[in-house]
Amino acid sequence: MQFNGNLIAGLATVICLSLQAPTSNAARESKKVDDTPFKAQAIDIPPADAAVLAMVDARDATSLNGTWNLIVDPMGMGSPGGFFGGWATDRIPVDEWQLLEYNYASSKQVRVPGDFNTQFDELFFYRDGVWYQRHFDASPVEGKRYHLWFGGANYTTSVFLNGQPVAKQVGGYVPFSVDVTEALEAGDNDLVVSVNNRLDDNSVPTKRTDWWPYGGLTRDVYLVATPDTYIVNAKVELVSTAGGIRGRVITANAKRGTPVTLALPELDLEITASVDADGVAARQSDAAPELWTPDNPKLYDLTVSMGSDQLSDRVGFRTIETQGQKILLNGEPIRFKGISTHEEPIGRDGTAFSRADMEVLFGEAKALGANFVRAAHYPYSRHAAQVADEMGLLLWEEIPVYWNIAWENPETMAIAQDQLRRLIERDWNRASVVIWSVANETPYSEPRMRFLERLINQARDMDNTRLVSAALLGDPRRELKDVAMHLAAYGADREDISATERAIFKAMLKQAGGHAPAIGSGFNLVIDDPLGGLVDIVSYNEYFGWYYARGIAPAIGVSEQTVRKLMFEFMESITISADFDKPMHLSEFGAGAKSGKRGEGVWTEDYQAAVYRAQAKMITNSPQVQGITPWILKDFRAMLRTLPGVQDYRNRKGLIDENGRRKQAFYVLRDFYEGAWGNPEQWNQNVSMTPELTLFPSRLLPADNVLPAFDDDERALFGDQTPHETMTR
Ligand code: GCU
Repeated sequence: MQFNGNLIAGLATVICLSLQAPTSNAARESKKVDDTPFKAQAIDIPPADAAVLAMVDARDATSLNGTWNLIVDPMGMGSPGGFFGGWATDRIPVDEWQLLEYNYASSKQVRVPGDFNTQFDELFFYRDGVWYQRHFDASPVEGKRYHLWFGGANYTTSVFLNGQPVAKQVGGYVPFSVDVTEALEAGDNDLVVSVNNRLDDNSVPTKRTDWWPYGGLTRDVYLVATPDTYIVNAKVELVSTAGGIRGRVITANAKRGTPVTLALPELDLEITASVDADGVAARQSDAAPELWTPDNPKLYDLTVSMGSDQLSDRVGFRTIETQGQKILLNGEPIRFKGISTHEEPIGRDGTAFSRADMEVLFGEAKALGANFVRAAHYPYSRHAAQVADEMGLLLWEEIPVYWNIAWENPETMAIAQDQLRRLIERDWNRASVVIWSVANETPYSEPRMRFLERLINQARDMDNTRLVSAALLGDPRRELKDVAMHLAAYGADREDISATERAIFKAMLKQAGGHAPAIGSGFNLVIDDPLGGLVDIVSYNEYFGWYYARGIAPAIGVSEQTVRKLMFEFMESITISADFDKPMHLSEFGAGAKSGKRGEGVWTEDYQAAVYRAQAKMITNSPQVQGITPWILKDFRAMLRTLPGVQDYRNRKGLIDENGRRKQAFYVLRDFYEGAWGNPEQWNQNVSMTPELTLFPSRLLPADNVLPAFDDDERALFGDQTPHETMTR
């Protein structure tokens, strides 16, 4: 159905409506038809194809990346079916008499892939609809099918080819494609894509996120040609550390019995299986591949073939599991020496979309001594896991079920399930990916439990070779109360605080009576969020060194300075554990620092470094903690962060700034990873943490930048680097 009839349709609607007897409100309500002539009538756009067309880099794909036309449409005027006719095709006035109120060719020129927010200053904060358009030539041939493939677009995307509505995808960050064989024309084709990065209470995530909602065609766009009968996807996995390789190939339009072959030439292995009634061919075979590890990221060339269709990939084989409170990689205990990231490149604003972007970003994680990255809070481009496979970085991948979500809305559930499915179907062959995370910091409720349990079960049903987790929040209210009481114990007799504050602390202890904690009596924070019972690794976000003081100080009437100073000492006596016999992972902790800002107090590099030192003690005190991903590798764009001259719409918790300049804490963490905690051969040496070791005051970098030597404990922790070397290299 071509759209040049809109004008007539629109006009006809107006005329008939004005001729009808005025409709009663009740009747209008019951008809549920919005009869305002200027509002576009919703048109049916089929959803994108359910299955992820995988291994796109091995397919016969024509890139549609490059410069596209862009119309900004905050009022949704482009939607087809309205009075204004819509912009689903690139129309040029036939003559000076034709009224058209848009023109793609003379509109903005935008680069694809990439977000639109950082390509135009006026769109930096923009969160609404835009229309992309380009022409491309095609020469379709018989016996082939043609698919438009998108690596990801944020957030609601509708695709039109030659005026045909061909696909709609709700949910950013994940790949989707659509078979357009029928709509594709020989010669010139007119491709129009509307993308809207507006979020609401029912979206995933909802509209409030501590990251930039980069919108648009943020990832690659291809026209992919396949034979009529083709391979959609394939999953290969190691059966166990003892060996064995299992393969499963998902096909389209293949007759039952059609042979499919998986080949791993370096292993001299060919697995042939027949397509079953569901279009799937699966088989297992003996094999003893060299196992993939971060230190030895061994990858094998894989080919998957069926008839004239052949795809290739590079895959690694490893097992990941938990045993009690231990994490085992290929049967051996491992600790996640990690760092959290956002999908932003170093040195440029906007979303990271290229392989090179990920190589640089993950290269900095490797330089930190990390063997693990938490790719927060949404699926990154396919390049992320491919680069991690090659670089030897274990990956935590996550879907943006973030903070509060409409837990009881079935559409919200469907979007989250769709994102999880597409992420898993895209990256289930990536050896680096060891954790699927289904959520971040979601407050406890029964509807939340039900929602997340369904996602956890979905992940396990689709892929039982990886671990499942979620970043928990704990119970801040209860924890802060306990923390405040412990701080009172530290402050009650301090000479370097005001008499009023001492009195307040004494009063708190008196009130607590027999429950009052003693200095250094240790504080065991136990995570008992019931979701911990459903996941494989209990992951927890904490900000003892940053946010807690801001909540506690006003609540007890003591200065934030005093609380922060006491907090540093108190942190050394904290142990974190979980109410579940499972490994724990600190999925976030950290502090903000403006790169180059030195001295005392928040936002200085010295303060951030001190937080990391205190955290190092907490982690070493906490034997159940087998992994950490401090927040965060690089300062990143965030609309929540407005402090002029410091944040300027960036979250400043990075260990490097937006241009890659390393802050002091980068070296503190790197040396921690080079020290005892990070090295298996030293794990059984228990490095005792003496609570009275007050790190903070003595570790502030004096003006002349020379730090007193480490004491024994710190040398054990940070290896034999001098603090000065640590700080300034
Ligand atoms: C949260 C959240 C992050 C956020 C961070 C912060 O824990 O998960 O998305 O950026 O805290 O406040 O910096």
